[in-house]
Amino acid sequence: MRDSFGSKFGTLVAMAGSAVGLGNLWRFPYLVGENGGAAFIIVYILLGFLICLPIFVSEFIIGRRSQKNAFAAFRDLSDGSAWRWVGLFTVIVPLIVLSYYSVIGGWSVEYLIKSLTFSFTGGSSRAQISTMFSGFVSSTWAPLGVHTIFLLTTTVVVMIGIKDGIEKFSKVMMPLLFVIVLTIAIYSVTLPGASAGIDYLFHPDFSKIDAKACAAALGQAFFSLSLGFGTILTYASYASKSDNIMTQSASTAISDLMFALIAGVAIMPAVFAFGIDPQSGPGLVFETLPYVFGQMPAGGVVAILFFLALLVAALTSSISMLEVAVAYLMEEKKFSRLTACITLFVICWIVGALCSLSFGPLSHIKIDGGNLFDFFDSLSSNVLMTLGSLFTVLFVGWRLKKTDIYDEFTNGGTLSANAKMFGVLWFLIRYICPLAIIAIFLTNLLS
Ligand code: PFF
Repeated sequence: MRDSFGSKFGTLVAMAGSAVGLGNLWRFPYLVGENGGAAFIIVYILLGFLICLPIFVSEFIIGRRSQKNAFAAFRDLSDGSAWRWVGLFTVIVPLIVLSYYSVIGGWSVEYLIKSLTFSFTGGSSRAQISTMFSGFVSSTWAPLGVHTIFLLTTTVVVMIGIKDGIEKFSKVMMPLLFVIVLTIAIYSVTLPGASAGIDYLFHPDFSKIDAKACAAALGQAFFSLSLGFGTILTYASYASKSDNIMTQSASTAISDLMFALIAGVAIMPAVFAFGIDPQSGPGLVFETLPYVFGQMPAGGVVAILFFLALLVAALTSSISMLEVAVAYLMEEKKFSRLTACITLFVICWIVGALCSLSFGPLSHIKIDGGNLFDFFDSLSSNVLMTLGSLFTVLFVGWRLKKTDIYDEFTNGGTLSANAKMFGVLWFLIRYICPLAIIAIFLTNLLS
């Protein structure tokens, strides 16, 4: 029998685990600060609910209707048509993302170990911390070692299964993650000078809201909600038929937003309290913050908590990416869960190792001006994810039968609130979402 989640809460924490990840911790706070603070947050919320939530619901509908892996879901719901290749596409894309995500997951393992040995409390200068980071990522063996540890942990959780592995892991880790990030946020706002960080995050500047800021908000919301990667679809295929798709989807989106906002309040006030200009991405997390931790009272403990949170957030996301292909291999190619996990571990380890080495021994290999890691990152977040989401809404809006979607969304007509909002949802999925996705695609292409 097919494994499934044991409860509504289990489904919710697993989906929230997929959504809450590096995107929330290292990109959202910076994007908000740079693009108009509270004005950007308003745009993010509006676009999130008008465009991303319907896409999320679409993935949920496909997954739960079919109760199959992503490939079979597209194939069977379209009576074996060519749509199944879209399904296969959404199986392959998360593997690419997992390969490079695991490299960064490995870095968070390394930095957790460094903070456990109190490496950031010696009052090192910013230059020393930066040299430590660049020395580490450009070396050969240490990053490969931690990439292996991270990917192995991900694989073991997935190997245990849906209810006993992914669900149990998420049920413990997501509340822990929430408590840690909230604790750091409370501490961070009490630091002298923290208000400059709050101002950076929340001061509304509507003059910064243009097409580019909207495209940035939408791109970030896509990545943050794990849309277009087959992960929500696959998790939804393990959800109970009695779950309310609308409340589960909205709760995941709200949890993801809350995490992103609290992460901003945990990070930016601390950065500003020490008079530093914020950065985005790896620079923020592995260079700026370790320096800040070295300066603040009890920074050693905060560093441990922060890197633990980073690791947990990355793990629950990477687990969801691996499960997409595991489900495919098990159901379509008749692999056992164990063999599927080992096969995918080997593939992702090799691709991830190439990405890891692209910061050091393979840094001379350039694609489109960047290293292999940058190439995979920008290809998947700018192109593949957008295409995956576009295919998903087109499939639901234009290929599936409206009556079937209604039936799935309202649990056979029994959820009256969902029945009332169906008309609006249908309109958004059919017309607004595809147009908005094409618009971000073009804005990114032309800018
Ligand atoms: N949502 C994750 C984050 O914000 O870091 C990233 C992610 C997870 C993307 C799962 C894609 C995915 F399938």
